[in-house]
Amino acid sequence: MNEQQRQSLPGDATETVIDPYATQKTAAARAAVADIPDGAVIGLGSGTTAEAMLRELAARMQQGLRVTGVPTSERTARIAASLGIPLAGLDDVPALTASIDGADEVLLPQLHLIKGRGGALLREKLIAAASQYRIIIADSRKLVSALGGTYAVPVEIIPFGWRHIAARLASLGCQTTLRMAQAMPAGATPGPYITDSGNYILDCHLPAGALAQPEAVAAAIKSVVGVVEHGLFLAMTERVFVAGTDGVQVYDRPR
Ligand code: A5P
Repeated sequence: MNEQQRQSLPGDATETVIDPYATQKTAAARAAVADIPDGAVIGLGSGTTAEAMLRELAARMQQGLRVTGVPTSERTARIAASLGIPLAGLDDVPALTASIDGADEVLLPQLHLIKGRGGALLREKLIAAASQYRIIIADSRKLVSALGGTYAVPVEIIPFGWRHIAARLASLGCQTTLRMAQAMPAGATPGPYITDSGNYILDCHLPAGALAQPEAVAAAIKSVVGVVEHGLFLAMTERVFVAGTDGVQVYDRPR
């Protein structure tokens, strides 16, 4: 199976589908990887676009580039290792030169993001926070005129008392859905999706316009007891590479 035909799904499952955006994802990834300096410590994102980046990074390493990668998920760690990318844990490095990751939604010009459709938002945000420079790679579908129009905001919560946590989020205006595992062993009862850190994810659907002031929503969600992290990445990106049918556009966050 061609790697570009693998579509990652929550729960680390994969299915064989033709990804019509594979070429754009690879173009954005190649542009981002071209800027990586020798000796860099790079946060390695999760998701199909980030996986295109891993392949491009491995190709540059074959030409002599030396890097250390800090993976944002167990799946990324496995793929990076299989490509020969040297890895370190987040606590093994004092800081990261940069991180390169995908996103579900990108709002210009602030480069605010929604992330976490793949379930890796907690480690992605920890690694972004430890990075001196944050790069997002995306195809042009990811550009939005308002946050939350395409995807819900994923909220990672502890499993204990999850219904109570969901009720608190509902009181903030979130219509929540407990994310379920997509692929189960034969005969197993379908259960909640479990993150790499052993948590659940509530997908939080907000009414139109609710994310016009995303900082306020982010603070309110984070204040709920039992919430570990959410998928709103606000002012956490310096540069976005967006690939479309007419090439790759670069957007920098205004300072
Ligand atoms: C992983 O949890 C996510 O944040 C992904 O980075 C995001 O969902 C983008 O994934 P794709 O590149 O597969 O669209």
